[in-house]
Amino acid sequence: MPALLTDTTGRLCAGLIERKADLLLAACGRTGAELSVLITDDPGIAELNSAWRGRQGPTNVLAFAMQEGEPLGQERILGDVVISLDTAAREAAAQGISLHQRIAELLVHGLVHLLGLDHERSSEEACRMAAMERDLLERLNILQRRETMVKLAINVDHVATLRQARGIDEPDPVTAAAICELAGAAGIVVHLREDRRHIQDRDVRLLRQTVKTKLNLEMGADEEIIAIALEVRPDMVTLVPEKRQELTTEGGLDVLGQERHLTEVIARFREADIPVSLFIDPDLDQVRASRDVGATFVEIHTGRYCDATSESDRDKEFELVARAAEEAYEKGLRVNAGHGLNYQTTARIAALPFIEELSIGHAVMARAILVGLDQAVREMLAICQNARR
Ligand code: PXP
Repeated sequence: MPALLTDTTGRLCAGLIERKADLLLAACGRTGAELSVLITDDPGIAELNSAWRGRQGPTNVLAFAMQEGEPLGQERILGDVVISLDTAAREAAAQGISLHQRIAELLVHGLVHLLGLDHERSSEEACRMAAMERDLLERLNILQRRETMVKLAINVDHVATLRQARGIDEPDPVTAAAICELAGAAGIVVHLREDRRHIQDRDVRLLRQTVKTKLNLEMGADEEIIAIALEVRPDMVTLVPEKRQELTTEGGLDVLGQERHLTEVIARFREADIPVSLFIDPDLDQVRASRDVGATFVEIHTGRYCDATSESDRDKEFELVARAAEEAYEKGLRVNAGHGLNYQTTARIAALPFIEELSIGHAVMARAILVGLDQAVREMLAICQNARR
């Protein structure tokens, strides 16, 4: 492993930082070189600062090169970068950027020191160092985006809505699901509502047999539906709040308000080996509660971001989604997002690096009526594919 992380605070996702460090080594043409990264707190870095640099108090980052004072070479072992998580968090808050972004910046700063540059030597070197840091951060962003593409899961509820409107047997959501998969969807989502207004039990059972990618059953945490889910065994379930009067799911689950009940329900699904996702508003307390009740995934509600009517409101809502996604990832949860996404609003959400999958229904079905389902799915897929380029 070229980059090795030690996190004495236990507050970060080690794999994520190691991956960043590996990509940075690749970005500066040093793949295979060894870099050790230590994440510590303010007292920890203050001790090192005093012992090795004779300076008092904490700092944000320290770099200890294997070949201290030597000119830039091709050493296999580069040395150590030490970051104070406390200082990084304060700086991130002051700059209004995410903790992960600040850590990436400090990692780059430390790495450039290890590569032999020192901003304290001269102003000319400080300029060269700043330019190299900007360049490395840009390359890191490109590499990270290329790594993974967000997956697209299609919700076929509205095909059933149309069928139920006539009370006959077409159009069939099972056929629609197959077309979505053929067009490249990575999963199929259906919501089996207590009032059976669109998807029927028969649809869920048939889809279980025909879906080749991943069947995600959306449902209220209600005993009748839980029993069906445990019998049919979808690949995962997404728990949503459900009201009879609503046109569509209106808001996220209040996980904080029903921790005991959700812990019990999730434990039953865990026992059956069925991962559970909780559909929540982009609220950090709900994220933490989701982790506490044992969810595997959260699906961050993007409805308010999509419904925003001014650019500044949309930016604010987007920030909330981005922060909630990052917090969930950091807490070890897997992260999906959805609700209200359309051909205009999806790209920005699909570009967020921590989100694995988007769940989209209405916009794709509305377009499908005009251009055909295959084309509507492919066009949405292209948006997802291009978002992280
Ligand atoms: N995610 C959840 C939890 C939902 O309830 C819905 C709507 O069924 C969706 C995603 C998809 O929303 P839309 O149909 O607006 O794309």
